[in-house]
Amino acid sequence: MHIVHTIAELRQHLSGFRRPAFVPTMGNLHDGHIALVRQAKPLGDVTVSSIFVNRLQFAPHEDFDSYPRTLDADAQRLQEAGCNVLFAPRERELYPEPQTYKVHPATDLGDILEGHFRPGFFIGVSTVVLKLFSCVYAGMPSGVAAFGKKDYQQVMVVRRMVGQFALPIEILAGETQRADDGLALSSRNGYLSAAERIEAVELSRALRALGDAALSASPGDLPALEAQAMQALARRGWKPDYLTVRRRTDLLPPAETVTAGSVVVLGAAKLGNTRLIDNLEI
Ligand code: PAF
Repeated sequence: MHIVHTIAELRQHLSGFRRPAFVPTMGNLHDGHIALVRQAKPLGDVTVSSIFVNRLQFAPHEDFDSYPRTLDADAQRLQEAGCNVLFAPRERELYPEPQTYKVHPATDLGDILEGHFRPGFFIGVSTVVLKLFSCVYAGMPSGVAAFGKKDYQQVMVVRRMVGQFALPIEILAGETQRADDGLALSSRNGYLSAAERIEAVELSRALRALGDAALSASPGDLPALEAQAMQALARRGWKPDYLTVRRRTDLLPPAETVTAGSVVVLGAAKLGNTRLIDNLEI
């Protein structure tokens, strides 16, 4: 595997290929990232991953500085998974000057849920993803890029961006990988204390319970069910931002009776100082 730090080196290593399979990450890789690499690899003729902790998608009070940076261990795992090129740009390579041109996702998708509680988050994500896409795919007839469904809304935002800008890139959404107890794998799980780690699975349990309660419920009943689910989590010491049932197509509240296959239950909540997100397609 080639490890490159500049856009020029990256493009040099990709010249001669026609369909990169790309997995963008912020590093501190876990089995979820590795599963994405393995899934994407057969869909392209060269496999690329990036590691870049993107300042643009963090608010000033968030964990940009403390976000775990584990390049050597990550490179080892990527190599074992069959990645061919690792692009690990330094900040001045990707942002040599303040990034004043930015991608603003449509507000109906980009300003709800995560976008509501983390204002500007999807602007930061979309901007860096478009920039990484332009580093990897410039001059390529097509490509595939893989994102994990744990960041459900992120996958939708990126998909829409790719559609609206007519980028010749197929977006692959990989299933959320979970620990044995059901906790969704996340780089931020490493922030949890031992006691918090045991408690952390309750977020996915709460989503499951809300999903079960929501099945066959009419749209008018959902706000009360969601409020109860948030209260139950709060009683356990969590600070929930949202637990909500949404249509899979556009993440808006369902307008009809909830049926299996049509909705996703999404949640975000803080446990101690760690903000966790998860979702379940019901
Ligand atoms: O999901 C992530 O790790 C990040 O949001 C991404 C897509 C790599 C952009 O920085």
